[in-house]
Amino acid sequence: MSEERNRPATDADRGQVNTAAAEVYESFFVPALFGQFAEAVLDHADVVAGARVLDVGCGTGVVARAAAARVGAGERVVGVDPNPGMLAVAERSAPSIEWRAGTSEALPVEDRCFDHTVSQFAAMFFTDRREAMNEMARATAIGGTITIATWFGLDRTPGYAAMVALIAEELGNEAADALRAPFVLGRPEDVRGLVDPIGHDVRLTESSGTARFASLADWVHTDVQGWTLADLVDDEQEVALIARAEQDLARFVSADGSVSFPAPAIIATVVVDRPD
Ligand SMILES: C[S@@+](CC[C@H](N)C(=O)[O-])C[C@H]1O[C@@H](n2cnc3c(N)ncnc32)[C@H](O)[C@@H]1O
Repeated sequence: MSEERNRPATDADRGQVNTAAAEVYESFFVPALFGQFAEAVLDHADVVAGARVLDVGCGTGVVARAAAARVGAGERVVGVDPNPGMLAVAERSAPSIEWRAGTSEALPVEDRCFDHTVSQFAAMFFTDRREAMNEMARATAIGGTITIATWFGLDRTPGYAAMVALIAEELGNEAADALRAPFVLGRPEDVRGLVDPIGHDVRLTESSGTARFASLADWVHTDVQGWTLADLVDDEQEVALIARAEQDLARFVSADGSVSFPAPAIIATVVVDRPD
């Protein structure tokens, strides 16, 4: 949370990418990593046909799109994100879904108008997580669910632990922080602490996942150009990173040149209580 930092939040802390990075995020990161969790998050939330769903920190919209397919035509699915580049990609990919600019801390939605509020891999970037949880509870019907997905820590994600170390050595700590930020809610107790105060029947699950990239160059390119590093790394530095990755990260490469490593997630669901 911002109040726990000793410096102002950066774009990396807040997960804010530029417009070009949002395009790379959708084309490369979603198929390599994020997309595989969308159905698990909706299953955990108990989203069924006819439900109304809010996706907070929707990014380019992978969960909202899966929700729209599941709830059926004409049902209400809304995606909220503060990043204009992410929302532009989301709008283009699914014009029939309602996309709104806004933050989790001040959700641009009415009270109690969703059966399920979901948020996949975004809570790490909220500037005030407690307020964000209160807002999600306000948006959700009493008895509805709120579901949060976060990454397990770098200690459980060997590919990114190695990539962070490589980037720290090649480009310094500020650049490495951009890839550390997604892992700051990496323990089940961190996520339980968020959902516990707003309801009952908390369920926490470990969801196994696998990061899969076509090659080492593809992995480096995705991390650099599809995330907040895009503003910190120039083309020459990206080429140097790829060369260094060929030496240091070879253990993640299969015989066909593709890359894979475990990327497990924590998924937590809580049933929303009536406010006191
Ligand atoms: C790693 S992306 C995840 C996007 C999407 N949920 C997915 O699974 O592909 C994190 C998203 O959180 C958004 N975000 C950052 N701060 C936020 C805030 N305060 N409120 C809502 N979303 C926020 C970012 O703009 C970004 O789109």
